[in-house]
Amino acid sequence: MSIVLSPSLLAADMGHLAQELQTLEECGIKALHIDVMDGNFVPNIAFGPDQIKMLRPLTTMKFDVHLMIVKPERYIQTFADAGADAITVHPEACTHLHRTLQMIKATGRTVGVSLNPATPIEVLEYMYELVDRVLLMTVNPGYGGQKNIVAMNKKIEQLAAAKEAGNYSFEIQVDGGINKENIKAVIAAGARNIVIGSALLQRGKTKENIADYQNIIRS
Ligand code: DX5
Ligand code: ZN
Repeated sequence: MSIVLSPSLLAADMGHLAQELQTLEECGIKALHIDVMDGNFVPNIAFGPDQIKMLRPLTTMKFDVHLMIVKPERYIQTFADAGADAITVHPEACTHLHRTLQMIKATGRTVGVSLNPATPIEVLEYMYELVDRVLLMTVNPGYGGQKNIVAMNKKIEQLAAAKEAGNYSFEIQVDGGINKENIKAVIAAGARNIVIGSALLQRGKTKENIADYQNIIRS
């Protein structure tokens, strides 16, 4: 079974960013999760297109951009131009989700939809054909370092069942509070792309942590 580990930039040491990215690459990490927050859809503010543009030449990792902003349709092209390879939006933040997904598709980037913990998967019933990735939030979005909401394991299972029933090809991604204790449970429930911030990017321990996660995944 192939599992993708997506470290979250939010937990990186901003003073040594180039070094952090190099470490991740050396460990075989292929995708960097980048959280964009507007202080409106979520209560925090993080990363804009200019920062992403500056990071782009520093690494060959794919940029998996998670837009936690209202009306993301205003910025799809901007983030695509800045260097995003994957763009994920929240239906709770879009007036016309279908149109926004089409906009992402038109940029040639992979199309992702992310659901807050309180949002049922049924909102995606007519969208599945259009999406490459469904990101289930396992915390309320806005901050790194929060506690995983265990009830989301059932939601991951529901989504995996819907994927199988419809024979869809989208990837199931999870984000929030994942650590060495609970990663097995989200994988068992059906997650295949695991975003990890604070429990992976730790000063001086990142390499060791990635090796630990790889061992846990293999075990
Ligand atoms: C939360 C963000 C996450 C965050 C995860 O709103 O979407 O990507 O960086 O951080 P941890 O793994 O520390 O919960
Ligand atoms: Zn995220």
